[in-house]
Amino acid sequence: MLLLSSQEIARGVQRLAQAIRQDYAGCNPLLVGVLKGAFIFLADLVRALGMPVEIDFVRVATYGSATLPSRPARILSGVRISPKGRDVLVVEDIVDTGYTTHAVLTYLQRLSPRSLRTCVLLDKPSRRRIPVPIDYRGFTLPDRFAVGYGLDKGEAYRWLPAIYALEEGEHGPAPSHRRGEG
Ligand code: IMP
Ligand code: MG
Repeated sequence: MLLLSSQEIARGVQRLAQAIRQDYAGCNPLLVGVLKGAFIFLADLVRALGMPVEIDFVRVATYGSATLPSRPARILSGVRISPKGRDVLVVEDIVDTGYTTHAVLTYLQRLSPRSLRTCVLLDKPSRRRIPVPIDYRGFTLPDRFAVGYGLDKGEAYRWLPAIYALEEGEHGPAPSHRRGEG
């Protein structure tokens, strides 16, 4: 089932970019994308921003699944560009339980950024287990498993240009309890 068409996503990305551009004018922020899920969103966001930014990535291991309880996430691979004294903006595809974003924020905060904010394309607030601040939010979603536009189910569907909710029973290849790197 279609949740967000590519046109709706593009409008959301433009709206986020406009707010970020205003707040970070003249700041040269460091955007930190959370792999893998945020790669398409980040690519569209930086082009919509049209201002100088630096870009780095973190990889996070998450556990659990759409239906099983999750447990705290762990940083698999950190940033190469030092966030010290920088205005850091974390770019996430989706915040579900909040464990991933919480882990990324805790990790980055220790590296002494000047400021630390979050930009999240999709928010599923009904699934939250741990509160996380969301400074820029694209869309709020109901409790459905979303795929496409970088989001996967067992590594499938990332390539889809729009965002869909997986139908019941449509679980794609090899459903797994280990969600891996989203
Ligand atoms: P959280 O730690 O539970 O907030 O979830 C974080 C990660 O799980 C996200 O960065 C995604 O990569 C993945 N994830 C959570 N919900 C979904 C979904 O609906 N579709 C695809 N991936 C998801
Ligand atoms: Mg993610």
